[in-house]
Amino acid sequence: MKMLLVNGSPRKGNTCTALTALKEGLANVPQLEITQIDAASVAIAPCKACEYCREHGLCLDEDDTNRVISAVAEADTLILATPVYWWGVSAQLKLLIDKFYSQAEALAAKSKTVGLLMVGQAATDDLQYSLISQQIQCICEYLGWKLTFARAFSADGPQELAENKAALEEIEQLWKLL
Ligand SMILES: Cc1cc2nc3c(=O)[nH]c(=O)nc-3n(C[C@H](O)[C@H](O)[C@H](O)COP(=O)(O)O)c2cc1C
Repeated sequence: MKMLLVNGSPRKGNTCTALTALKEGLANVPQLEITQIDAASVAIAPCKACEYCREHGLCLDEDDTNRVISAVAEADTLILATPVYWWGVSAQLKLLIDKFYSQAEALAAKSKTVGLLMVGQAATDDLQYSLISQQIQCICEYLGWKLTFARAFSADGPQELAENKAALEEIEQLWKLL
């Protein structure tokens, strides 16, 4: 089983903490091949809607787009983890999501379970988390994937989530849902 974790945060803060806690729980899953992509560390130019990919099945951009989106296509399980930026996912993650367009058929060809982790400063009942969850749910439905969890956590300073033991324990248990 291949699992791809996508970290949408540009800093070593709460999203990284959430992914670390998730990986601790994932140690319970046998024969899991885990790869992590830090969206801020890969070069993915914005989609220009040139439609080159419609004809060629790959993006025209000579950056990390094709490698990264191929890794998403090959995954059995995809974890998207993002800080909340302006009521939405981070720009770093959105660049990557927009490039799903370039290999949409390949992405839809392999069914996946998907998990979503969101960390924002606002309380967990804020509308922003359901807006993001609905966006990811729509993407999953379009591509024939199954969103198995979408969890929101409230933290602001980069070490704040690391001090929230209840949240970390909850995240460590999420592997059971995948
Ligand atoms: C550009 C920017 C926009 C933000 N917008 C929001 C927002 O709309 N809602 C919110 O709750 N927090 C917002 N935040 C706060 C972050 O979501 C919060 O600090 C989060 O814990 C950051 O995660 P990280 O430590 O993994 O980077 C914003 C932070 C930045 C830098």
